[in-house]
Amino acid sequence: MHDKNIFWTFISVIVASILFSYTARADDFSDPIVNGKDEFAWHCASCHGEDAKGTGKLAKILVKPPVDLTQITERNGGTFPHDRVFKIIAGTEAVPGHSTFQMPKYWERFRHYEGRRGYDTAEKRIHTITLYLESLQGK
Ligand code: HEC
Repeated sequence: MHDKNIFWTFISVIVASILFSYTARADDFSDPIVNGKDEFAWHCASCHGEDAKGTGKLAKILVKPPVDLTQITERNGGTFPHDRVFKIIAGTEAVPGHSTFQMPKYWERFRHYEGRRGYDTAEKRIHTITLYLESLQGK
């Protein structure tokens, strides 16, 4: 009888520590990604490149390689089209004239994380990324 109690105490300590390490790890994943630079490095650089110039690892396997995101203002006649860029990232607007839209829709993706600790709303995150892209113009 006594042995059995020790056995179950032992088991529950193990289960508790597994659960604890699992939640601790889950917390690590929910670390806030607070700035546009990190969001870009995490979500966009694989295709667009760390420098946003279209040199990401996945760029060569895309049907149409992404354009240089540091020249958006230049291509738009000198003004940064904040609204349009926001919508392109959100996925609510396809890139005009591009029929091969292969970019993920970040609005849907970020919505899944809304309300989780450390995550901003999809709107705020896309806004932050848009501002980050604006800061890269002409670089
Ligand atoms: C899976 C690859 C991929 C990922 C990841 C990706 N993009 Fe794209 N992106 C593309 C492709 C491809 C295009 C060109 C669209 C086309 O030709 O259909 C594009 C186009 C764009 C454009 C329009 C450029 C222009 O002026 O025409 C913007 C802005 C943009 N991406 C921003 C982002 C941002 C910001 C992220 C991260 C939140 C991101 N992209 C993640 C592949 C990707």
